[in-house]
Amino acid sequence: MRLWRFFYDRKVYKKLIRPILFLFDAESVHHFSFTSIRLLHKIPFVGILVRRLFSVNQPKLERHVFGIRFPNPIGLAAGFDKDAKLYKELSNFGFGFIEIGTLTPKPQGGNPKKRLFRLVADKGIINRMGFNNQGVDAAISRLKKNKNVIIGGNIGKNKTTPNDQAIEDYLICFDALFPYVDYFVVNVSSPNTPNLRELQEKKPLTALLQTLHTENHKRKNPKPILLKIAPDLTDTQLLDIIDIVSKTNTDGVIATNTTIARDGLQSDSEICEETGGLSGKPLSNRSTEVIRFLHTKSNGSFPIIGVGGIHTPQDAIDKLEAGASLVQIYTGFVYEGPRMVKRILKSL
Ligand code: FNR
Repeated sequence: MRLWRFFYDRKVYKKLIRPILFLFDAESVHHFSFTSIRLLHKIPFVGILVRRLFSVNQPKLERHVFGIRFPNPIGLAAGFDKDAKLYKELSNFGFGFIEIGTLTPKPQGGNPKKRLFRLVADKGIINRMGFNNQGVDAAISRLKKNKNVIIGGNIGKNKTTPNDQAIEDYLICFDALFPYVDYFVVNVSSPNTPNLRELQEKKPLTALLQTLHTENHKRKNPKPILLKIAPDLTDTQLLDIIDIVSKTNTDGVIATNTTIARDGLQSDSEICEETGGLSGKPLSNRSTEVIRFLHTKSNGSFPIIGVGGIHTPQDAIDKLEAGASLVQIYTGFVYEGPRMVKRILKSL
């Protein structure tokens, strides 16, 4: 038990484990951590132990949002477990829900490596992964084993699919994933698939969301469909988003994806200039601003999942106070360590 307590200590992660991990290439460390978590969970009772150490089970943390009961409001953001390989084990770290994806109809390798960069001085990450994933069918085979983890299915289009045929890709993913996820996320906001963000414009976005809504409501029990947006939209574009969400009866918004902005960074300019989406601390204020704008201007007419730069309990509280019903974390999990979920939950 003492050994577990040692690894559980937050200082041990920040002062020992993180510095060692950060000596190596970021994407290799991601795969290493993934494999380590999976192998550890093969040891009997480790899953139960991890859950006991990292989870907080309190009825007051429960949230009912778009018809789903979430055990707590902290989720793992899309991109960490793209292929639904580790959602069960990751949920043991205290997350109330896990978002898988972005998944595309066909498998694709993503952009050439190196494509993931740490901005340590800024507690940020730049990624240009480019929707590397094994395709929607591979994820389904794993999701069939899900017992009780709340899963969001984040869907996108293949790189080779032109924008005027994108709806077809989203429909393929939607249909295939429908029985296996609790809610959907329409991702049109990644900066790493060429021209994808053009789908955030009024006409294509309305057509896409309307088609998915119609398809959804052909079913007996439709599932919530959310739209994930970029933090780089202007106020006018955000007002358009509110209008589109209302007209297409979209169930909610995830704000935000990574940013293409590079303001106020401290890290080496060489790294800051890498192409891709920036996440983590430098994104925190802007994403909270977007949440507040959407919530205020829409009179709270749809739920928002807030994501971007949550590293401390106060960061999560800021997003909830700005109007988010739930929040998600990615980069903070890497910088602050696995215990951060519990710290945030205890502060709520
Ligand atoms: C992401 N993110 C992401 N989002 C998405 O909708 N689909 C995806 O495939 C990915 N992939 C991805 C990979 C990597 C390496 C990172 C760092 C991020 C974006 C993520 O879900 C989240 O919106 C942002 O990272 C902002 O939150 P954090 O990281 O600041 O907590």
